[in-house]
Amino acid sequence: MKLTLHIWRQPNTEAAGEFKTYELSDVSEHMSFLEMLDVLNEKLIAEGQEPVAFDHDCREGICGTCSLMINGQAHGPDRETTACQLHMRRFKDGDEIWIEPWRAKAFPVIKDLVVNRTALDRIIQAGGYVSVNTGNAPDANSTIVPKQNADLAFDAATCIGCGACVAACKNASAMLFLSAKVSQLALLPQGQPERKTRAINMLKQMDEEGFGNCTNTNECEAACPAGISVENIARLNRQYVSAVLTSRD
Ligand code: SF4
Ligand code: FES
Repeated sequence: MKLTLHIWRQPNTEAAGEFKTYELSDVSEHMSFLEMLDVLNEKLIAEGQEPVAFDHDCREGICGTCSLMINGQAHGPDRETTACQLHMRRFKDGDEIWIEPWRAKAFPVIKDLVVNRTALDRIIQAGGYVSVNTGNAPDANSTIVPKQNADLAFDAATCIGCGACVAACKNASAMLFLSAKVSQLALLPQGQPERKTRAINMLKQMDEEGFGNCTNTNECEAACPAGISVENIARLNRQYVSAVLTSRD
């Protein structure tokens, strides 16, 4: 199939960006979206032009690195699908596709489609961990966890930290990401010692990084490739309020 691609080009963080248009032919419906960009880059290199910078790593929907707004939707049109798992069969001959980087103040553009997402790492560093003695793994089932809690904790732990929730949110809020990271630990016995400081410190860090607040539009859940539920945001709010009301710090 033949495609017209409108791609955001920006040489660095300070420079002004703009859309540039590229025509690409012989795109196979079996290609992934990133393979289609590989083909474009090979063509640009052969023509002596600068290839398009975009983020990717596993290309298996696991790492959370690929981050593209495709026709205005984070990770493209398919539900619970990362950009690397999106296939060109979703498009048709003659389509025009608009490809942009994540849009959020806390995610400055590094180059073209690549943004700096280290703000998410700093939120994790503010409390997304448990204090455990390292050493031999404990025996299985030595700490009993109710089945329902184990399932909910696992669901929250499937967040791959891609930042699509931020890019999809009109407030550029990181609440879905934060709530998944808080919930996965709040639901398990191992997460209890730091339960209060975790919620308070991670939320504080989110504000300091320049993310916006949640106004319950649920765009984050719709864009999330891991299917993280906004139920986690409700749990985070309960954790935070209870921490603020009962913390002695
Ligand atoms: S909550 Fe979903 S959209 Fe947000 S970072 Fe995690 S996996 Fe990505
Ligand atoms: S490249 Fe790893 S999730 Fe897409």
